[in-house]
This record gives sequence, C-alpha cells and structure tokens, in this order.
Amino acid sequence: MAVVGIVPAGGSGERLGADRPKAFAVCAGRPLVEWSVEVLAAVCDRVIVAGPAGHLLPGWVEGGPSRSASVRNALAAAPEARTVVVHDAARPMLTKELVERCLASLMGVDGAIAAAPVTDTIKKAYPDGTVERTLDRSRLWAIQTPQVFRAETLRRALAVDDEVLAGATDDASLVEAVGGSVRVVEASPENFKVTSAADLARAERLLC
Ligand code: CTP
Ligand code: MG
Repeated sequence: MAVVGIVPAGGSGERLGADRPKAFAVCAGRPLVEWSVEVLAAVCDRVIVAGPAGHLLPGWVEGGPSRSASVRNALAAAPEARTVVVHDAARPMLTKELVERCLASLMGVDGAIAAAPVTDTIKKAYPDGTVERTLDRSRLWAIQTPQVFRAETLRRALAVDDEVLAGATDDASLVEAVGGSVRVVEASPENFKVTSAADLARAERLLC
C-alpha cells in the first residue's frame, strides 16, 4: 500500500518578496522546501515535489498554474499511490508525529486534515463592513496541511477544470465537492504557513 508524499512547491512567493521562488528561500540554513521533504521522507514510501518551472531538481515534477494543479501534476507521476500525504513547502514546522496522526485518522474516511481550533471570534460581514452575524467558534477550524487522502478519491477530486482547481484553497474542499468524507485532526498553530518575510523570520527562530 504505497504512501506517497506530495509537496506543492510551485508558487512564486510573491508576498514573501524574496529574490527566488519561496521554496528556495533560505530558512534556518536550508531551502524552505527541504524541511517538509525531510519529514515526509521519514514516513512515506516516496516523496514528489511539484516545483516552479525553470527551477526543477532531479525527480521533481513541474508545478501547475495553481496550487491544486501542482498537486494534480505530482499525483499523475505516482500511479502506485494508494494513500497520499499533501503538505505545502511553505509549512516548514511539520512533524513526523502530525503526519502519522493524520494517517492513523484516515480509517473510515476519504480525507484527514490537520487543523487548529480557531481562537479569535469570527464574524461574517457584508462588503460595506456591516456585521451579518457571529459564527459559532466552537466548531470552527483553521485548516493547514498535511492533508491525507485515499489516492483514488483525490484523483477523482482533482479531475476537474483548471478554473475549479484555481478556486480551491485546499485539496480537501475538492474532495468534499465530490462527496468525499473529510475529518479534521487537531494540530498546533505552530504549524503555520510562511507567507510574509515576518513569517520566515519566525520559522527561522523556531527551527534554529
Ligand atoms: N503552490 C504550488 N503551485 C502554485 C501555487 C502555489 O505548488 N501554482 C504551492 C506553494 O509553493 C506553497 C503552497 O502551494 O508551498 C501554498 O501556497 P502559497 O503560500 O500561496 O505560496 P505562493 O503561491 O508561492 O505565495 P504567493 O501567493 O505569495 O505568491
Ligand atoms: Mg499563492
């Protein structure tokens, strides 16, 4: 039962504003992407990175026009996959323990995804700023990666038009859209995504 790790790393990192694609930004002495690859390699039978065009290392596949398109490209290169662990290159704080807990939670569902309980009060507002209502925080989760799926379901979920892939902010939402069952797995907010230069500095402090 092959477990394949997929690392979407094909973004440009516009908001980080580095002199290279975000996956190659140096974080605590190594390219950002390496932190995720190392942890996945310890748990998965194989790891496939979907990298930025023009910056591919041996064994990588070319990313697509959107994050989920990059995941689709990587999955196409792994016909042997039975279980897939998707984890963003932009989240270097990944632990083996979290990947293992997501894998263990896949029993009986199509997807198991890392998530942190929401701690802020969340309100829904109209475009003019007027509050419509306050949501019930006790059932809200801030979604992260890793996201673990049955490969067959993820393949079906990703077999949609590029525009649909581009509109998805995570892969689980595509699995949900084809009727797949998804469960959240409680994770630490410390498994944050590096988006800005301040995030990169924070990751560097934690990883050194
Ligand atoms: N990603 C990808 N292919 C794309 C776009 C994004 O594989 N076409 C990956 C990124 O490399 C990153 C993850 O998806 O690991 C999350 O995306 P994000 O944090 O938005 O990274 P970037 O798109 O690179 O950053 P920005 O949006 O600031 O340009
Ligand atoms: Mg992006």
